[in-house]
Amino acid sequence: MPDPAPADRPPRDPSDPVSLADFEALAAASLRPEILGYYSGAAADERTLADNREAFARWRLVPRMGVEVEGRDTSVEVLGRRWPAPFGVAPMALMKMANSEGDVAVARACAARGLVMTLSTVGTATIEEVGAAGAPSWFQLYLLEDLGRSRELLARSEAAGYEAVVMTMDAFILGRRERDVRLGFQLPDGISYANVRRSAHKRGDTYGDDGFKQSNTWADLEWVVANTRLPVIAKGILHPDDARRAIQAGAAGIQVSNHGGRQLDGTIAALDALPAVADAVAGSVPVLFDSGIRRGSDVLAALALGATAVFLGRPVLWSLAWAGERGVGMALDMLAAEFRLALGLAGQQRADAVPSDVVVRM
Ligand code: FNR
Ligand code: LAC
Repeated sequence: MPDPAPADRPPRDPSDPVSLADFEALAAASLRPEILGYYSGAAADERTLADNREAFARWRLVPRMGVEVEGRDTSVEVLGRRWPAPFGVAPMALMKMANSEGDVAVARACAARGLVMTLSTVGTATIEEVGAAGAPSWFQLYLLEDLGRSRELLARSEAAGYEAVVMTMDAFILGRRERDVRLGFQLPDGISYANVRRSAHKRGDTYGDDGFKQSNTWADLEWVVANTRLPVIAKGILHPDDARRAIQAGAAGIQVSNHGGRQLDGTIAALDALPAVADAVAGSVPVLFDSGIRRGSDVLAALALGATAVFLGRPVLWSLAWAGERGVGMALDMLAAEFRLALGLAGQQRADAVPSDVVVRM
């Protein structure tokens, strides 16, 4: 018997989501417009946001026939850990605006599935609370002006059992998100950053009193590498030379990303940047990817183009807003099932050995 496609199992409730995109409308029903705008929106004309999706349509899949795929293996190994599926959750700020359990609900959904949860520096649960949820946890670092406070965040992550640090290189200053401006988005009452000192959510340059360092240099990345025993991943890399430079600075992984189009609008789609970065990295460290993943077939395409694994962004926030931990679990299961289906239909046996000729450029 072939595996039943997810579509063969009718949703229990006709309003239940069937694809990751469905979660956005469900979130819209429960979120104030300015909060949905912060989650879903991106910089300026949102061209890069749209292009991150369109980029997947510029590649076509070339499935192979005649292959035994019943026992296919969706797992991949990243930095010494086997992941049951080739994706985790990307770092995202202000999850408690979606649901009172916020980051912890997401971490629990990840823990139940053995998937990596990345906690943002501007997360709304503490490093320790998220660590205690039991997922393999990564800490995303925005370097603070006060290096002593930055070092404390690294030390707390190590003590709480985190397995990696993700240094975000592309958001030392924030892009201008016009939905936020138009809808008057600000930090809602009762919501605060759990790990950095809070003040008003300042748009345009900084978050909180802790003062983010207003530029990130390779020397800063070297500083982070020197100040933690955890592997450090450089996130937000789009140019192959930057990937090489980050590895020289000690990065143990490269995360290709354009921050979901939230920074410099008009930036190359993350998927279009992936092949050249993967070439430059040439297998020396894992290549991670985010920005636009909405389908299991997107995960397959990213693996074919050189990613070791990918990260899911906005659908996690939408599913969290809709139904908390249960909603996030549904979204993660949906992506895992879609990926398993895509891998099988493509005639591939292993997620960690997807050949590049699974995709062709249109
Ligand atoms: C983000 N992202 C992000 N990245 C990061 O390194 N630190 C952070 O605090 C945040 N915060 C954040 C908030 C919100 C609301 C969004 C949507 C995104 C970027 C995130 O990690 C990832 O790069 C993008 O979300 C990927 O794009 P898609 O797939 O969500 O469209
Ligand atoms: C954002 C920051 C927090 O994208 O990374 O909103």
